[in-house]
Amino acid sequence: MRSYTFASSALLSISGVAGSVLMNNGLAATPQMGWDNWNAYGCDVSADLLLDSAQAMADLGLRDVGYHYVILDDCWSDGRYENGSLRPNFEKFPNGMAAIADYIHSLGMGYGMYSSAGKYTCAQYAGSLGHETTDANTFASWGVDYLKYDNCYNEGQSGNPNISYARYEKMSTALNNTGRPILYSMCNWGQDRPWDWAFTIANSWRATGDITDFFDRPDVRCPCEDKEGLNCEFPGFHCSVMNIINKMVWTIQRSQPGGWNDLDALEVGNGGMSDEEYKLHMTMWASMKSPLLIGTNVQTLDAKSYSILTNPAILALSQDPAGAAIIRRWSYQVPQKDIFGVGEVQMFSGSLSNGDYAVVLLNAATDEMHMNATAGDIFVDEGGKISAAAKSAWDVYDLWANRMPDSVANQILQSNGTAGFSAAQNYYYNATAQSYADGIAANDTLLMGTKVGTLEALGTLKAMVPAHGVMAYRLRPSNATAVSKRDEL
Ligand code: GAL
Repeated sequence: MRSYTFASSALLSISGVAGSVLMNNGLAATPQMGWDNWNAYGCDVSADLLLDSAQAMADLGLRDVGYHYVILDDCWSDGRYENGSLRPNFEKFPNGMAAIADYIHSLGMGYGMYSSAGKYTCAQYAGSLGHETTDANTFASWGVDYLKYDNCYNEGQSGNPNISYARYEKMSTALNNTGRPILYSMCNWGQDRPWDWAFTIANSWRATGDITDFFDRPDVRCPCEDKEGLNCEFPGFHCSVMNIINKMVWTIQRSQPGGWNDLDALEVGNGGMSDEEYKLHMTMWASMKSPLLIGTNVQTLDAKSYSILTNPAILALSQDPAGAAIIRRWSYQVPQKDIFGVGEVQMFSGSLSNGDYAVVLLNAATDEMHMNATAGDIFVDEGGKISAAAKSAWDVYDLWANRMPDSVANQILQSNGTAGFSAAQNYYYNATAQSYADGIAANDTLLMGTKVGTLEALGTLKAMVPAHGVMAYRLRPSNATAVSKRDEL
């Protein structure tokens, strides 16, 4: 295991979480956050795009809520030099890659790059299969902090977990041997069940086919549904948000600090979904502990996307030090008025680091729904109906009730960040000034949401949930002080 000075502090930050070990590079103690150009720009990449986007992330305060990595996806290279090392496309990147890394570092952010564990990348540029050591050294020499590592053109080296493991392990070792901390983000789309083996070699693994900017549109190019996603031979692309959620529920708990199931970059801001759908997308990616990578044009963000991407009470679920993904407790089909006849409602809950609980009521139907979650179902992992948790009263905090108003978001966006943060102080959390772990420990009200009621002992949490929407809550024991006093006696 390598040791870095930062590794011990990362380990310290999760001390007390029983049985947790971080992957061997000490990174991603909580799901990584950043920006990736693919969803909004595809192959249309350039130095200006990266530098301008990084600058916008710093100016608009996205960096300071935690979006740290600026990741260049496919289509940046121009083959190899005679000595075998990768050559950037100098038309797109006139000053090369180290210059980009320097600039991003000067803004206090990390630089991410992309390659494939195949002969070619998915867009048919040079891949790293057979060149792992050379390419890892090149990335390290450029000052790269993150590698997204794809699965295209893998020369048939897939089909069972051993073969995939061996192929991805080579780059893991090569990155570690550089001596530079480089977050390793595998992108093999869930093939060969990476949740069974990737944790020991990578910080995250893409667990499904490529996302698309649709809520629930079925698409033949994303063939596997629900449980079929466990062994999806052709993960494909054009996967909707609900397709990804429904595939992930079975294996989502197979992640932990240091290694995360990656549900793909966010689509928030790209225009294909409604505001409620984007809120649902953000809530589920945060509470399922997916890496949170903004996938839109940050230079033209609108107010609603900004307030979704920066909601502190939701980001506190993502960055909770315990790193436990929320678990689906039930899912029911419900009648709805649209042409497909039935919709779906689901309830998720899970424990948080300080004894709190997260609850999400998800309504994927086209009509708004009254939804009920009993204490017995919410706390089933604590012993179901008869557990002390189910028999206690809990204060209920709504995680979207204190969403930043559009007028406040617009002050930040329209001044390009030069003004507006003081007006936003009741909505904006600066995680550079105080980490999420420290803020949660200090009960920072921005991370709590808004208290909206109490779940009585053995009671039922009831809410009207918008169509294609969620209600998301943090539950905290009502008598927290009294309980801890009794414990001391
Ligand atoms: C896909 C990958 C996408 C994107 C694309 C680039 O395989 O899942 O996220 O990186 O390749 O060509």
